[in-house]
Amino acid sequence: LTLTSCGQEARPSQAGELLRSKAKLPDPFQVPLPIPPVKKPLRSDAKADYYQVVQRTASLEILPGLKTEVMGYDGLLPGPTFDVRSGRTTVIEQVNQLDVPTAVHLHGGHTPAPSDGWPLDLIMPANGHGGHGHHMTGGNPTTGKRTYTYPNTQRAATLWYHDHAMDYTAPQVYRGLFGLHIVRDDEEDKLPLPKGDREIPLVIADRAFDADGSFLYPAAKDGPGVESKYMEGVVADVTLVNGAPWPVHEVDAVRYRFRILNASNARRYELAFDKGPATFVQIGSDGGLLDKPIEHKTLVIAPAERFDVIVDFSQYQPGDEVTVVNKLDQNGGVLRFKVARKAADDTSVPATLSSYAVTPRPSGVVRREWRFRRGNAGGHHGWTINGKGFDPAVMQAQVKLDQYEIWSFVTDVHHPVHVHLAPFQVLSRGGGNLSAYDHGWKDTVDIRPAEVVEVLVRFTAHKGKYLIHCHNLEHEDMAMMAGFETI
Ligand code: C2O
Ligand code: CU
Repeated sequence: LTLTSCGQEARPSQAGELLRSKAKLPDPFQVPLPIPPVKKPLRSDAKADYYQVVQRTASLEILPGLKTEVMGYDGLLPGPTFDVRSGRTTVIEQVNQLDVPTAVHLHGGHTPAPSDGWPLDLIMPANGHGGHGHHMTGGNPTTGKRTYTYPNTQRAATLWYHDHAMDYTAPQVYRGLFGLHIVRDDEEDKLPLPKGDREIPLVIADRAFDADGSFLYPAAKDGPGVESKYMEGVVADVTLVNGAPWPVHEVDAVRYRFRILNASNARRYELAFDKGPATFVQIGSDGGLLDKPIEHKTLVIAPAERFDVIVDFSQYQPGDEVTVVNKLDQNGGVLRFKVARKAADDTSVPATLSSYAVTPRPSGVVRREWRFRRGNAGGHHGWTINGKGFDPAVMQAQVKLDQYEIWSFVTDVHHPVHVHLAPFQVLSRGGGNLSAYDHGWKDTVDIRPAEVVEVLVRFTAHKGKYLIHCHNLEHEDMAMMAGFETI
């Protein structure tokens, strides 16, 4: 593998065989873009908002004329959006009405360990089903429900929540267990950015469908993981945005803010507009606002990454159609915008967005290396970190709170690496400068084949057991995950 350009070296390692649908697929750009509903609290007090979510199956019309059974938070795909204030606590009672154990992780959250969704802190099904038929020991399981407490003591950012059950995260997220959790704060509210229905989440995920509309997923027949030809990761032929196949959305000829999440199990995208002059003006990354906006012609986004962008449609005429395509997939369509009319626009993108500042590289700090490689994970073929498949009893590092550390991520093939609990700042990529997509606070960084990425990390609160793992969910289930402990 060579490291020529992002687009070229990304494809061969991005996944195994394409999973093809057998269902009749709709023409693209016919289905309207859905917006996931914002979840309402059951009650609120001075410090917290209290919610209940029911994890259940539901039969949804994702492809026109067909029914797909999903596993969804409140039966939705994506789940409802939590829209919360920095510093106010969110308390969510998660009720599991599914037949399988689940665990909920708030991705990007500064979450105390008991609520972080450790893969064995399972919510066992209330109906007595053991789930996948193999025994899970350790952890702190509950039956039927579990309450998660998120202090939201962090700056405004686009977070997301998803299933994290031991060995079965990939199929369960694939079937629908993912949603957005947006944190807002005063610093961001003061900016003259697009708001209301001009602030739109775009949750991108690829899926394949059987002839009857049900999801196709190549689960291994004999336990966790996927069929071996898909162990590189499942990439499928239908692109869903907010749960709709290749949707279309009408816009005014003004600025819009899009919070883009790649919720795919394994697929990378290089998003681009099929016709100029629009660009993606990035204002934020995984961990919130950048200090200054960065303009991108194309946006490379790996699984679990978020990009917060402004797109200015005033550069188009009413009647124009502009399509977002994926350059890593022969310019296949993702979604289309129809520019409907001219309209007033009092928004702007300030030259300075945030007081966020780049922390200079410290010297004399603890350094750790995390090697992500194919390997023997617990007796079967899989993926490893530092030569080991995930073992919940093993903590690969003990990390002191409040101290900067420099972590190096080293890979064989492409891996999007995610760290729980705190965001990090990328220091170097491939021994040199950052890529255009590495700026700001990140919690997931895409490590390209044979590359080393150094990040600066510091955990400022919460002692306990946390995870570092590959966010290619098939790799994760096939053991590319490690525990570390904050002390
Ligand atoms: Cu988004 Cu440990 O995961
Ligand atoms: Cu990986």
